[in-house]
Amino acid sequence: MARTSLPGSALLKALSGHPSIPPPIWLMRQAGRYLPEYREIRSKVASFLDLCLTPELAAEVTLQPLRRFDLDAAIVFSDILIVPYALGQSLEFVEGEGPRLDPVKDGGAVAKLEPEIAEARLAPVYETLARVCANLPCDVPVIGFCGAPWTVATYMVEGRGSKDQAEARLWAYREPETFGQLVDLLVETSAEYLLGQVRAGASVLQIFDSWAGSLPEDEFARWCIEPTRRIVERVNASAPEIPVIGFPRGSGPLAVRYARETGVDAIGCDTTLPLEWIGRELQPLLAVQGNLDPLLLVAGGPALDARVEATLAALGSGPFIFNLGHGIQPETPIAHVERLIRLVKA
Ligand code: CP3
Repeated sequence: MARTSLPGSALLKALSGHPSIPPPIWLMRQAGRYLPEYREIRSKVASFLDLCLTPELAAEVTLQPLRRFDLDAAIVFSDILIVPYALGQSLEFVEGEGPRLDPVKDGGAVAKLEPEIAEARLAPVYETLARVCANLPCDVPVIGFCGAPWTVATYMVEGRGSKDQAEARLWAYREPETFGQLVDLLVETSAEYLLGQVRAGASVLQIFDSWAGSLPEDEFARWCIEPTRRIVERVNASAPEIPVIGFPRGSGPLAVRYARETGVDAIGCDTTLPLEWIGRELQPLLAVQGNLDPLLLVAGGPALDARVEATLAALGSGPFIFNLGHGIQPETPIAHVERLIRLVKA
């Protein structure tokens, strides 16, 4: 069951709207290729997808960064594209290139997806979570996650990562009804998936909207805010005690509407949002998370120290969770991660 009353969790304190000093810290993609112990396990499996679907190994990889670093949360090791896989779309991660899916191009292809098989295909992630929870000290929360419908749809439609998400944007403009059917399916499946993760032990949830920044305001409201609001509503109805973090990457000033309208408990801020603006416009509304440039963590040195200090000065006296503004880079030196955590916890 969910680890809902974790005594002394700094992350849960911040998520409930209270400053925690020092602030909690976790890092997006904290398990991954920058860790030699991750690369070792990764080399034993044929593909990244196999790793995600093998609970014993996925749990081990989830726990690796917590053995090394004084982090305030674990995040289950999986991927946002597990949801299209669960819906029956073919999925492959090509070495050095990224994900490849058999593209969903129209309403006919949406109708061929198979929501009835999704829960069975998601079961390995639930088992990973249960294993992680059984192996962590009782005050460490485990974060479950999914991709936001818009971001997941962009991969489903393009069949791969893309620079500008043009095909999904064009479909949404030309045929909002059929694109809406895809988004509705993702709302339903993602809400069930998040609740399944809660039942398996997740005590915090994050919704990754990595491509929120490619939409103008009306489409941002329709395809990012509204589907996220519906997922949060569903999660709150069945698991009211579980806080939800939303990460609308690239939203710029639309982050304020996102914070007001989706019902999330915290907002993940990307690297481009100014600290002073986050403190003035967002933090009075809800807890904020972010937003160190992952490349600054690669670079290290005095520039890293100065930015960490500036971030803590700007946001540390309100509800705040230290994180990166996007996922950690594979070339990140471990010593820089150690330094970052020391500075935040000093
Ligand atoms: O944060 C964590 O430690 C949990 C694990 C996690 C992964 N992906 C593991 C992963 C999480 C939370 C994600 C989210 C995810 N996946 C997002 C949203 C966040 C973001 O980065 O914008 C997106 C867009 C994806 C889709 C995805 N997965 C892409 C485009 C790629 C290829 C690019 C790359 O970094 O290789 C992946 C692969 C992936 N997901 C890896 C990891 C550790 C690397 C694969 C490997 O180890 O071989």
